[in-house]
Amino acid sequence: MHNFFTLKDLDVQGKRVLVRVDFNVPLDKKTNEITDDKRIRESLPTIKYLVERNAKVILCSHLGRPDGKVVDSLRMDNVAKRLGQLLNKQIKKLNDCVGENVKNKIMEMKNGDVVLLENLRFHPEEEANDNNFSKQLTDLAELYVNDAFGTCHRAHASTYGVAKYLKSAAGFLVEKELNVMGKALENPDKPFIAILGGVKISDKIKVIENLLSKVDKLLLGGAMIFTFYRAQGKNIGNSKVDEEGIDIAKKLLKNK
Ligand code: 3PG
Repeated sequence: MHNFFTLKDLDVQGKRVLVRVDFNVPLDKKTNEITDDKRIRESLPTIKYLVERNAKVILCSHLGRPDGKVVDSLRMDNVAKRLGQLLNKQIKKLNDCVGENVKNKIMEMKNGDVVLLENLRFHPEEEANDNNFSKQLTDLAELYVNDAFGTCHRAHASTYGVAKYLKSAAGFLVEKELNVMGKALENPDKPFIAILGGVKISDKIKVIENLLSKVDKLLLGGAMIFTFYRAQGKNIGNSKVDEEGIDIAKKLLKNK
């Protein structure tokens, strides 16, 4: 059905496997507690599969948008705690994602251990898809698995750059989503109605254009709707608007 490698195509037994997950979970502004752990729970099938096969599981993710600086409220500690509860297993959380110290800790891992690296976006090189940063991440592992479905549209070091250095595969979450979307886009049940949310139209223009050519109806939600209202000349009060997206929204409305 698909033409990409998945987790089951890899021989993971006893191997160090770098797994890009999307642990970008919402946090309570006051207490910094996780308010919805769905993204952590969605990664469990991949992590459990690897643990059961005695792999050394090196998890990495971004959390929020720290813009290349260390932001204490965006450290991964609470995520590691929640993951540990869900897996009923000790998760070692490291204080960085690259460097000698990290490498030494990774080399001490035993089969079946799970380590969570610190927020990738504390390093500007992550979003810049810096080659050297990708290399440093891949130096930690022997195999790479991408299970960060919510971040697959970003060409960053940990989602894109690393894949050229290690044998790579999609995790179970990415596989599931691609299969569902593949069917929906190639052979949809009719009527075909898509629902899309998010903030920035400029990030999603290709998806919107692609969907518009296939769907019977496209329902938009989330903050991006205000950019469409602005494009239609409506008053949106203080609602969030994607200034770059206004002209794009006008074009999309005209061509719909
Ligand atoms: C998301 O929540 O949309 C993903 O985790 C990607 O985050 P980003 O929009 O900050 O790149």
